[in-house]
Amino acid sequence: MQSRSAVYEDWTARPDDFNVIPLLRDARGRQYTYLRLSVTDRCDLACEYCMPPSGEDDHALRRDLLTFEEAARVVSVFASAGIRRVRFTGGEPLVRKDIVRLVELVHRRTEVEQLVMTTNATRLSELARPLRDAGLHGVNVSIDTLDADRFAEITRGGDLRRVLAGIHAALDVGLEVKLNIVPLRGRNHDELGRIVDFAWSLGTSPRFIELMPLGEGAKLPPSMRMNTDDVLEVLGDRVSDDAPAGVEGHGPARYRAAADGSGHRVGFITPMSDEFCDTCNRVRVTARGDIRACLASRRAVSLRNIIRAGGDDLDLAWAMVWSLSGKDSGHHFLDQAEDEHERVGMSLIGG
Ligand code: GTP
Ligand code: 5AD
Ligand code: SF4
Repeated sequence: MQSRSAVYEDWTARPDDFNVIPLLRDARGRQYTYLRLSVTDRCDLACEYCMPPSGEDDHALRRDLLTFEEAARVVSVFASAGIRRVRFTGGEPLVRKDIVRLVELVHRRTEVEQLVMTTNATRLSELARPLRDAGLHGVNVSIDTLDADRFAEITRGGDLRRVLAGIHAALDVGLEVKLNIVPLRGRNHDELGRIVDFAWSLGTSPRFIELMPLGEGAKLPPSMRMNTDDVLEVLGDRVSDDAPAGVEGHGPARYRAAADGSGHRVGFITPMSDEFCDTCNRVRVTARGDIRACLASRRAVSLRNIIRAGGDDLDLAWAMVWSLSGKDSGHHFLDQAEDEHERVGMSLIGG
């Protein structure tokens, strides 16, 4: 009988006793239940910490992208292997033509429990209702400032009014909404309290994401990065020290409750100051169909090539296992050469 390691080295050499779709676990016992599926590497904004002013220079060509049929098949194999929640990401997922049809296809074809999306919301006011009707459960919306001029600067041309309209439309049709903010010293730190108040006034949770040294984010001075304590200091008595902290179901955000007992919460995503990799439950597929076991790793396996070479669902499933098998315990964001991160922007991986 062939050894397991021989299979990992060559996905085409699957022996007969591997004829079941396995659960996705890695060598460290972590089980993967959450898929982040990027549907495009393009974006209609170019946030300073994410995308170069002129956009990434190696956008995938249309033929390189997973087709909707391929994406739905990939998700259905992932679902058989234990994935329960799928987050559509980008770039900006709503710039992918006919994205509503993809959501609907994945919803109809797969056993996934929850479909969610991370978006900049510029196109959400038109698409919130059709997305909900297609089976989407919720959206996480990036919003780093409530000042229209500053918003245009940070996003290099974005219109804050469209984003606000998108957030309201999502809430109106009953999508679950959370807000994502990258807090940056000297950029938006003076507004963090206002953003929290705004989020809470809508009944949503704001989540502060530590700047990661990826893409354009690697070019900003690390002194701009704000960790949980930095943000809490700015938030003052909105969040009390002894308010209970908690990890929410899906990770990696850790939440704190509002001090006033209103039940509102604020989340912190802290890959740099407080790594959460020992509980990592997520796997990423890029718009080109590459599996990435970690946001910080360059290792990739092309599911698209396996599909287009005639591979079956078991081939896909074992390629998924193989790609996760050697995953490190932590992310090594800071160990690699800086220019290496600069080449792999968040928008090319899906965040
Ligand atoms: P929920 O399912 O709502 O909890 O979503 P989420 O917070 O996982 O997803 P979202 O797309 O809103 O991500 C917010 C930020 O967290 C983005 O900057 C992601 O890149 C980052 N993030 C999400 N998961 C991970 C992770 O596993 N590792 C790291 N380093 N960052 C992550
Ligand atoms: N560091 C932290 N967050 C980032 N995002 C994009 N680039 C970075 C970075 N370098 C955030 C966006 C969005 C989410 C998908 O990722 O603001 O909310
Ligand atoms: Fe998982 Fe990598 Fe994120 Fe750590 S940095 S939680 S290993 S994806």
